[in-house]
Amino acid sequence: MELVCEMRKIEKGLRRSARCRRSERWRRNFEERRALRKEIRAAAKDILMSQRFNSTKSYIQHGNMTVNDHCIHVAEYSLFFSKKLPISCSRKELIRGALLHDYFLYDWHIPDEKNPHKLHGFYHPGVALRNASMDYKLTPREREIIKKHMWPLTVVPPTCREAWIVTAADKWCSLMETIHLHRGHGKILEKLEKRRMENPQAVKREE
Ligand SMILES: [Fe+2]
Ligand SMILES: [Fe+2]
Repeated sequence: MELVCEMRKIEKGLRRSARCRRSERWRRNFEERRALRKEIRAAAKDILMSQRFNSTKSYIQHGNMTVNDHCIHVAEYSLFFSKKLPISCSRKELIRGALLHDYFLYDWHIPDEKNPHKLHGFYHPGVALRNASMDYKLTPREREIIKKHMWPLTVVPPTCREAWIVTAADKWCSLMETIHLHRGHGKILEKLEKRRMENPQAVKREE
């Protein structure tokens, strides 16, 4: 009997320590993410506050993730990768380039009269670069990030570390969104879903 009680105590203790480890890990991740968001806000307040950038909340990127959330995630993962690898780079340009890498400003799931967006993967870096150059004074590195982030589709490989990091972070985030491990949320998405359902052509293409 005593042995059983002792075993139960040990089991309880192990469970408690596993719970503690999990909550500690969760707290660390939360703090880390909060620090990354703070750094992003400090480096790109003008972009995050702009109306045009916020209009990307109306467009879906992959799964149920908006382009806006996708770009912020890519900026976070770019910072995370550059810290973990570790690769020294210009963090400000890394953040700004990541935020603007998909600044194409349309919903590529919905074909319009002018463009069916069938080759979106190939040409949207050019569109994003044109839009971003109109709204911001881009550095050569930021231009390189936006222009080459779809490599190898864009054939010519990136020529700076920042562009390589954003290219990798973009691919990672796109994969996570496509397999629904990164999920979007909120009322905006419900509205978007409704709008997409009202457009049978868009629904057909997604199927
Ligand atoms: Fe892209
Ligand atoms: Fe992207």
